[in-house]
Amino acid sequence: MDSNVFKGRSLTVIEDFSIEERRYFFNKVSELKKAIIDNNEAVMDLFRINDPDFGIYEVFLEDSTRTKESFRNAAKFHHAKVSELLCSSSSINKGESYADTFNMLSGYSNTIFIVRSKVEGLCKWLDDESVLYTKRNSLPIKPAFINAGDGKHEHPTQELLDEFTFLEDNEMSFDSIHVALVGDLYHGRTVHSKADGLKLFNKVKVDLIAPVELAMPENYLEKMKNNGFEVREFGSIEEYLNQDDVAKMWYFTRPQLERMGERILQKQDYLRKSITFRKEFMDKLPENTKFYHPLPRHKEHPTIPTFLDNTPLNGWERQAINGMYCRMVLLSLIAGKIGSDFKPSVVKANPIEDEEYIVSVPVNKEKKTDKTYSEGVHPIENGIVIDHICKGESPSEIRNHMRLISTVLNLDESKGGEWISCGSDGNYKGIIFRPGHYELTRKDLKRLASVAPHCTLNIIKDGHVEAKYRTHMPPRIYNFEDLSCNNEACISHPINGEGVPAMFYRNPEGLFECAYCGKTHSFKEIWKSRR
Ligand code: CP
Repeated sequence: MDSNVFKGRSLTVIEDFSIEERRYFFNKVSELKKAIIDNNEAVMDLFRINDPDFGIYEVFLEDSTRTKESFRNAAKFHHAKVSELLCSSSSINKGESYADTFNMLSGYSNTIFIVRSKVEGLCKWLDDESVLYTKRNSLPIKPAFINAGDGKHEHPTQELLDEFTFLEDNEMSFDSIHVALVGDLYHGRTVHSKADGLKLFNKVKVDLIAPVELAMPENYLEKMKNNGFEVREFGSIEEYLNQDDVAKMWYFTRPQLERMGERILQKQDYLRKSITFRKEFMDKLPENTKFYHPLPRHKEHPTIPTFLDNTPLNGWERQAINGMYCRMVLLSLIAGKIGSDFKPSVVKANPIEDEEYIVSVPVNKEKKTDKTYSEGVHPIENGIVIDHICKGESPSEIRNHMRLISTVLNLDESKGGEWISCGSDGNYKGIIFRPGHYELTRKDLKRLASVAPHCTLNIIKDGHVEAKYRTHMPPRIYNFEDLSCNNEACISHPINGEGVPAMFYRNPEGLFECAYCGKTHSFKEIWKSRR
């Protein structure tokens, strides 16, 4: 059995490679970079795929210079078959699905796809889809997908080259990092990848420098904090430099004002000014400061002005060149040319399946139904009562949510009612009553726990509580047709027409992250009927 854990792997988000795997990767990049600079052909050959039939396909559905060209040059280094889909003349423009397009291309003997798109989570979907296609057509190998940037979501190979460049300037030490992220933190996928990417370092301090209009989205901010990063926020470079603890590493991103509405454009001078470095700031920088930028810089309004190109602050040019070395090594790993000597020290446990989301609570079957279940209506003789709905929320929010529960559980057409009561602690809660005979399947119970967590379900039989269950948020919600991610840029959003079933994972704050685009939702927001 091939024990190369990298072979055939996709890189859809930076977390697809563990910290340990990335550390191994960076050692390999150092090795290859040195060999290329020293013109050491023998070492270069250890990395080379050296197979003219090994297919590497570039599919750039959005513009790119660095990512596309560095991958093309990296692929040529490997003496592999390098192809490019000409998107302007492809059948994608005739409404063909992404899955059909990529499946077909993988059938033409292509093993690695490099994909840039504005559709978030596309690579994850293609990776999932290709499993069955590979099987159906007895292909020798399942293709791998490298995300070369998807909308505002992630840019994992940029993250790898950024991390490698930081490491070079950190004496290849993983101990700690203090970095300032400056610019359009709202749209910049390269800074979004840092929320997980910087976990590479044992101790992380991140200073976010952006006016509120361009601030880091809340979900990435929370992720950084949950990952144990020390995070500080500043509205401008000026404000940042008016305090003493200034980072030596500054990572700039381009303001993507073209993606914003007219109202924001009216403020563009002020927005650019707050994130553009000026000559007068030079004296306030600590010794040995380095600036980085994923590039491109804007030709008229570069946030790192061009007068800095020829100064020791310039880390961005080496960073862009490192992109090619990193991509060479990535292709080598995924092709299985290198990586067999890497042995992971920890085997990842999968805690997802073994968490119970509906728990039986003991009941006294002799006791007549509690009067709680008869407030304002006749006591239920037979039926179900869902209690403690949205405890502590406002009556109008509880009412709205009870409507959603009723729709999701298909209880709209049954007789019964909804009630809101107020406990002695002053907290409101909702109760749904449905008289009748209900046979609830495991799938029904999962739907209940998904739409009504932290509630109790009472099964009433002959005027007694026959069974009582407490619901908990499931760790993963999927396989229900009425789920939907609410990010229109996501591959699983119905607007994209790909028919991708939505799937969500619960995060440490009890929010549900879309499996494709990573957008976080409350348990109430994942249902189509909520919108
Ligand atoms: N940094 C980066 O992704 O550049 P390109 O858009 O030119 O690929």
